[in-house]
Amino acid sequence: MTSVAFIGAGRLGATLAKALSRHGMPVVAIASRSATSATALAQEIPGCRAVNADIAAEADLVFLTVPDDEIGPLAARLPWRAGQRVVHCSGATEVAVLEPAQRRGALTGGFHPLQIFSDPDRALGLLAGSSVAIEGPAVLEAQLRQIADALQMRVIVLPAGARALYHGAASFAASFLLSMLDEAVAVWGSFGIDEKATLQALLPLARGTLAAAESKGLAGALAGPVSRGDASVVARHVAVLDALGPAHGALYRELARRQIALARTGGRVNEERLEALREAIGRPLA
Ligand SMILES: NC(=O)c1ccc[n+]([C@@H]2O[C@H](COP(=O)([O-])OP(=O)(O)OC[C@H]3O[C@@H](n4cnc5c(N)ncnc54)[C@H](OP(=O)(O)O)[C@@H]3O)[C@@H](O)[C@H]2O)c1
Repeated sequence: MTSVAFIGAGRLGATLAKALSRHGMPVVAIASRSATSATALAQEIPGCRAVNADIAAEADLVFLTVPDDEIGPLAARLPWRAGQRVVHCSGATEVAVLEPAQRRGALTGGFHPLQIFSDPDRALGLLAGSSVAIEGPAVLEAQLRQIADALQMRVIVLPAGARALYHGAASFAASFLLSMLDEAVAVWGSFGIDEKATLQALLPLARGTLAAAESKGLAGALAGPVSRGDASVVARHVAVLDALGPAHGALYRELARRQIALARTGGRVNEERLEALREAIGRPLA
């Protein structure tokens, strides 16, 4: 059976190594920058030992789960051999960064889970049902598909060169959601409600909105003044947010502009009201 090793015992490496082991794959070696994190992770995986990166690089399938900037230097430094498989887990970094391993005869690829790994134990439970973008030559792609199937993950196949667009856009469903909530926290803070209370009030609303998107699609889930064509409400929002600070008004305007386009797609708001909404947004403050 294919032996598996991980180099990088951080948030993603820990989650994926445990998940693969629980699904019967022989995760035999963990390396990391510090022996402490490699040992801590290896101890949680039956039959696995903490080793240095040169030893981990001997496994049949090696996952490089290190920060993106470390992938290239490791690919260039480690003693890869022909027939081996070397995979990184970054969404933004092209698989071409593994070219030094490819030159030594290894098959190289990408396995990027579309999930957040800030809390590895929680992330273990989130893998099933999440998507993973895989990339690589046919033989490796088939192996990565098998792994995804075992973890009950949905597969997206990425063409070479698409990673920056793919990953940049995925941020809208991940950390940019936090930026949206951060904006709400800032605005509610202006009238005395703190972050904890704001999130307590708004996270259920955010969850409801995501659930509606899942069942009705984006245009179908749209609610709020734009979805009703209530231009006077939008005009009041713009006025107070501009008064609070131009950056608040500018962000609201841009998002409202996108919502008007979505409302148009949904067909619930007639052209006259759509035009009134556009006027309400008006020009950004100089
Ligand atoms: N976190 C996410 O939500 C997420 C989601 C999808 C994809 N990814 C991708 O997964 C990869 C890892 O991200 P992460 O969030 O798991 O990072 P992380 O938590 O910072 O972990 C990185 C690990 O790599 C180790 N490391 C750093 N430099 C090394 C080197 N030169 N040699 C060996 N080990 C080294 C660190 O070592 P020590 O602990 O030993 O110091 C650390 O344990 C990245 O490519 C990232 O883009 C992350």
